[in-house]
Amino acid sequence: MSLVCDVAVAGGGAIGMASAWRLAQAGLNVAVFERDRLGAEASSAAAGMLGAQLEVHEPGPFYQLCVESRERYPAFAEELLAETGIDIQYVRSGILKVAPAPDQAAALQAQAAWQRAAGSRAEWLSAAEVAHLEPAASAGCGGLWLPEDGHVQAPLLVQALARAVHQTCQVFCGEPVLAVRCMGDSVLLQTPARTVAAGALVVAAGAWAGTLLPQLGVSFPVVPVKGQLMAVRPRGALRLQRVLHSGEVYLVPKRDGTVVVGATEEHDAGFQRDVTAAGLAWLLDAYCRAVPGLADAAVERTWTGFRPGSPLGQPVLGALPDVPVHLAVGHFRNGILLTPITAELVCRSVTSQPWPVQWQAFLPQARGALAGQSRATPATAAASAAHLSERR
Ligand code: FAD
Ligand code: GLY
Repeated sequence: MSLVCDVAVAGGGAIGMASAWRLAQAGLNVAVFERDRLGAEASSAAAGMLGAQLEVHEPGPFYQLCVESRERYPAFAEELLAETGIDIQYVRSGILKVAPAPDQAAALQAQAAWQRAAGSRAEWLSAAEVAHLEPAASAGCGGLWLPEDGHVQAPLLVQALARAVHQTCQVFCGEPVLAVRCMGDSVLLQTPARTVAAGALVVAAGAWAGTLLPQLGVSFPVVPVKGQLMAVRPRGALRLQRVLHSGEVYLVPKRDGTVVVGATEEHDAGFQRDVTAAGLAWLLDAYCRAVPGLADAAVERTWTGFRPGSPLGQPVLGALPDVPVHLAVGHFRNGILLTPITAELVCRSVTSQPWPVQWQAFLPQARGALAGQSRATPATAAASAAHLSERR
């Protein structure tokens, strides 16, 4: 079988789906190829924090990218609701990060200072103020209050995007992109079921991007960084009001009454999916220290996911030079937060709109991703077409 489309998207996580949706809204004929189910991986495993200020530890373009994406969320959530009928449960609850010890207090005070200088709201709270704001929390030595951060329900985000994509794009689930090759002004893809000729390719394969990028001459390392999480259900009247970070774990209270607690950050686990005894023991122990009054909560669920780890934990976004290939990979700990702005930038890139100067730091050439990039000559293009059809 063969297929011709304007744009092929490799990977149906939040990043690939949101990008595909925006491209279809721009009038392009988009085909999404997903190895498994739409949103099966990191995007549905995520805690859903929109932690632009929580997660970034220095000023610069990445901080700005995170803040700007967070600011797009209210409209993004409304648009998804209008288009799909699914409420992704966006909440601007604020995030409180407690400092368990004086050295962490100093670091959080410094974080508050540079974030205020960058124009964000960030307040240092005394231990008494922490206890007043969040009675369930161990007050520690005070805390950093970030009223503009928030969260969404990641599994609902994934459901909404999947519906939006099904309404606007061709979707091929259970169809991994196995091989890619640039041929003149188009890209040839091979899946187990078909050969695809696309006017452009968007690579959005999450932690698995490393299987595709080298075929495109891209040397950007994307590696899986495993996270283990659990959901607990507190029993009594005491409830968490907002996202809490204890210095070890984060606790995200969801609308259904559960609290998502995460997460381990395992750099050497590869794609090993088990919830482990050690991972769970660490989560439980850190949870009980963070909110001792909620230690009798029922554990409802445990699960794992693979963050797409990248240098500096920052993504590479935008076009490769001279070939119609666009990257949207390496979002590491913040891919849910960065979904709206990534989709917008991918759409700009594919439709050749000017790339905003403030986001140049994320282009493949700026991220050092281009070593050995090759463009097929007509002769190699013919050879690669034969190679691809042999693999069908
Ligand atoms: P994925 O969601 O992993 O999607 C990639 C998709 O590509 C997968 O469905 C995969 O099957 C598919 N694929 C792979 N190879 C191919 C191929 N060759 N052909 C076709 N399809 C392919 N971020 C936040 O912003 N806030 C959070 O609170 C947060 N918490 C997290 C907690 C944990 C424990 C984890 C693991 C992650 C968390 N993240 C969070 C990070 C966030 O989940 C990721 O950055 C984001 O989901 C990445 O999205 P993605 O679409 O790139 O990857
Ligand atoms: N951003 C939360 C996590 O990656 O665990």
